[in-house]
Order: sequence, then C-alpha cells, then structure tokens
Amino acid sequence: MNRVEVRNLQVSYGNKTVLAVEHASFERGRFYGIVGPSGAGKSTLLRVINLLEKPASGSLQLFGDETDLTSLSYSKGLPLQRKMGFVAQKPSMFHASVYENVSLGLRYRKREKAEIQMLVQEALDLVELSHLADQRANTLSGGEAQRIALARALVIKPKLLLLDEPTASLDPYNISIFERVIQTFHRQTNTTVLMITHNLPQARRLAQTCLFVNKGRIVEWADTDAFFNRPACIELQDFVSGRMIC
Ligand SMILES: Nc1ncnc2c1ncn2[C@@H]1O[C@H](COP(=O)(O)OP(=O)(O)OP(=O)(O)O)[C@@H](O)[C@H]1O
Ligand SMILES: [Mg+2]
Repeated sequence: MNRVEVRNLQVSYGNKTVLAVEHASFERGRFYGIVGPSGAGKSTLLRVINLLEKPASGSLQLFGDETDLTSLSYSKGLPLQRKMGFVAQKPSMFHASVYENVSLGLRYRKREKAEIQMLVQEALDLVELSHLADQRANTLSGGEAQRIALARALVIKPKLLLLDEPTASLDPYNISIFERVIQTFHRQTNTTVLMITHNLPQARRLAQTCLFVNKGRIVEWADTDAFFNRPACIELQDFVSGRMIC
C-alpha cells in the first residue's frame, strides 16, 4: 500500500520495444531522480505511469490495488490519475486566467469555492506568483508559465508527483525557485516524486535515489551518493563523467 509499483511493463512502437521494465518499486515520500540518454524511454515511463499511454503489457500499483494497464478504462483510470500531478518540459496553459488554470483540478474534484480560493492562493504563494492571478495564462513568460504549471500540479496535493525535465528551458533564477518549491513541498508532504532531468547536478541536489535508464531498461538504481560516486555499470560510469555512451 505504501508504494508505487510497476510490473512487466512493455511499450513498443511497431516492432521496436522502447521500454521494458520487469519491476520497479517507489517508496512513499521518497524523491527519485531519473536520468539517462535521449531516447532511452524516460518520458515513456512517466507517461505510462500517468496513464497517458497504454503499454503492450504491464500493471501499476498506486498506493493500493494493482491495476492491469492494458485493460484500464477511462472511468477506472480517473481516480488513479487524480492522485498524480504531472509537469512536462513545456507547460500547456488553458486559454483562461492564471487563477482559473490553477483552480481547474480542484473544480473537477468538486471542491467548495472557499476551499478552492484558499488552496489556489496557497499554491500561487508557494511559487511566488500570486500577483499574476488575474493575468491571461497565455501571456506569461516561459519561466512564469512553468511555475504556474507547478502550482497547478501541487494544488491538488498529489500523492505522486511526476516531473519530466521541468526546468530544462528555465534560467538559473527560475530553476532555483522551482527547486526550492518542490523541495519544500516534498519535505512538508508525504509525496513520492519522480523527476526526469538531464541536469546531473540537479539530480544530485534533489533526489534521494537515482535511476539510470538506458535503451528502455532501468539498468542502475541506487542512493544518490552511491549512484554518482560509485556507479556500477560502465554505461553509467561513462554517463556521469560526460563520455558518450553507445
Ligand atoms: N508515439 C511514438 N511513436 C513512435 N516512437 C515513439 C513514440 N513515442 C516515443 N517513441 C520513441 O520511444 C523512444 C523513447 O522515447 P522517450 O520520449 O521515452 O525518450 P526519453 O528518454 O524521454 O528521451 P529525451 O531525454 O530525449 O526526452 C524514442 O526512441 C522515441 O523516438
Ligand atoms: Mg523525454
């Protein structure tokens, strides 16, 4: 019950298998960094967990019962998806105000108006953008939009937070705010965080455990210190020291 688990996961396009994970188990409240070369299957893994993509085979256990992902209907998937917050590399905003964008998830969950107001205010304060509540979301700068996307993911207080290179196109100032917010949120809640990043110092700073994904497989999994200082497989040794891997 206290973990997120995937089993026998396989994702293929045509005759190419892009992801094959026999078993992966993520503890409640732990922060995981996911690194690996481009095309390794990292985003596919998060998209499958977030039910945005159906695998050829596989099951997911999300702090509860195990669910077969291949036969999952929309109505059975919805309560699972509502336990998760997702931030992608490029934020997509609805054509509405910042306030409406952040409150949408709460309105879907039929929360009381006063509670919605309180939670949205709290989330906007967290990302230090309360002053932009009435601005049209499509007029935000890239950095502001990404912080609003984070507020939108956090406002629902997800049990599982999925982050796919969320700071890849941000400047150092926005990166530091973004990191501080997810660190604070992670410390204050019992949220499990899975964060993909190509920024290895960022994975070192934030993650408690790191995973190395290569060619569709999780090939190494270790506490962050050991992962970077004593990588076991040669591909990870090359990856962390900046050498090409093939
Ligand atoms: N809809 C699709 N159709 C065909 N191939 C796909 C599709 N989606 C992903 N792929 C392929 O699956 C592989 C894994 O893609 P994925 O996006 O998971 O990689 P990634 O590890 O996130 O890479 P990056 O670090 O560049 O974001 C890639 O070879 C990609 O081209
Ligand atoms: Mg990706």
